[in-house]
Amino acid sequence: MSRAGVKGGGDGNFIFGGVDVVDLAEQYGTPLYITDENKIRENYRSYKTAFETVENEIYFAVKANGNLALLRILASEGAGADVFSSGELRLVELAGIPKDKVLMNGNSKSEDELIDAVESEVKISVDSLEELQTLSAVAVEIGKEAEIAIRVNPDVSPDTHPKIATGLSRSKFGLPYQQILESYEEAKRLPNIVIKGIHCHIGSQILEISVFKEATEKMMKLVEELYDRGIELEFVDLGGGLGIPYNKTEEMPGPTPEDLAEMILPAFKSTLKSLGINLKLILEPGRSIVGPASILLSRVNTIKRAYSNFVAIDAGFNLLLRPSMYGAYHEVIVANKLSELSKLSEDKHELAVDSASAPVLTTVVGPVCESGDIIAKDRMLRPVKRGDLIAILDVGAYGFSMSSQYNGRPRCAEVLVCDGMVDVIRSRETVEDLLRNQIIPQRLERRAVER
Ligand code: LLP
Repeated sequence: MSRAGVKGGGDGNFIFGGVDVVDLAEQYGTPLYITDENKIRENYRSYKTAFETVENEIYFAVKANGNLALLRILASEGAGADVFSSGELRLVELAGIPKDKVLMNGNSKSEDELIDAVESEVKISVDSLEELQTLSAVAVEIGKEAEIAIRVNPDVSPDTHPKIATGLSRSKFGLPYQQILESYEEAKRLPNIVIKGIHCHIGSQILEISVFKEATEKMMKLVEELYDRGIELEFVDLGGGLGIPYNKTEEMPGPTPEDLAEMILPAFKSTLKSLGINLKLILEPGRSIVGPASILLSRVNTIKRAYSNFVAIDAGFNLLLRPSMYGAYHEVIVANKLSELSKLSEDKHELAVDSASAPVLTTVVGPVCESGDIIAKDRMLRPVKRGDLIAILDVGAYGFSMSSQYNGRPRCAEVLVCDGMVDVIRSRETVEDLLRNQIIPQRLERRAVER
């Protein structure tokens, strides 16, 4: 798979997608999300190649990155989409992803969202029995059929951050394994419900991938039991979840779609063979397609030698929540001094001598008024000064899509790079955007307050 490559220009600048990021900072300002189109295409294609021996469709998980230009790139590759709200549904429609390649997921869909899904004629992953009944009523009311899969909670335990394991028995997603058969029986009875598939998703950032084998085996056993009862399907959707190697210094290449295929395909094919049927395999990767394709470029605002050596940059958890929210690791590099690429110290506790260029144990922090606004803790970085550029790597998934305007900071711009070409794909917000939708009631208008 294509990773965020670390390649320097002649003068030690970081070149990303064929473009010198120092030039990008000058032209578009910082902070700036930069996405390499080719990496997205390569990562998508590596899934298609890995699963080519079965009928398959790759439904990109839009929650990872909902930028319209990126969705358009994926649409042009033939991707479908996993959407989690009416908003994401609208985005994929605008991007040109056909409705027969869209699955609406969600553990708490409002009635309006169910209506949108039925009206749009996309497939729906049903997360509870109550939802199934409401969906049937909605579909009858609209006079259309709702094509469904039921979301299974397969009770497998991936080795990932607990906040992003979604298929544990205690997690809020899906129906327990034991309730699946009766749920399909109910689906069969309900008017305007058409059974099309079965769905699960066990978690995200999974590097130890044997759990995918376990989940597939459980899912295919259910498929066999459904066929025993005369319930036929068109697809099995095994979700997303493949992890990426964020920590380059650990030198672990990370699992590839081919590795994933080795976990999934034996059980998938064996059930198809024993039942003498053909089913489509759907996967919903997000992170492994877009994660490595973007960097967040930021500028050093100030440096401070206190209890730690702090480098304070202009991007914080307002623009990249993952380190604060999950303690996630993202590689950081000094993008205008690449020849002095950061290296993790053997002994993190030993502060390097304060010579002009020796690496120093450094904590990179953002501008948000919270102690937890730490982007990278205790990294060995060459000393930097105000104005230097820090690139945060592998931020294409759950980066911009989880950003906020916290602390009154307008969100940053995004650019797309491709073989040296640059396009703005999201303009920088302004203070006006912070004011949008805010209303001061008439009775609080200044004159009334003064009175
Ligand atoms: N399908 C479903 C139903 C999902 O819930 C998810 C992610 C995916 C597919 C895509 O999974 P991926 O291939 O990206 O791992 N914000 C967290 C990740 C939350 C993932 C939620 N579900 C993070 O920054 O790590």
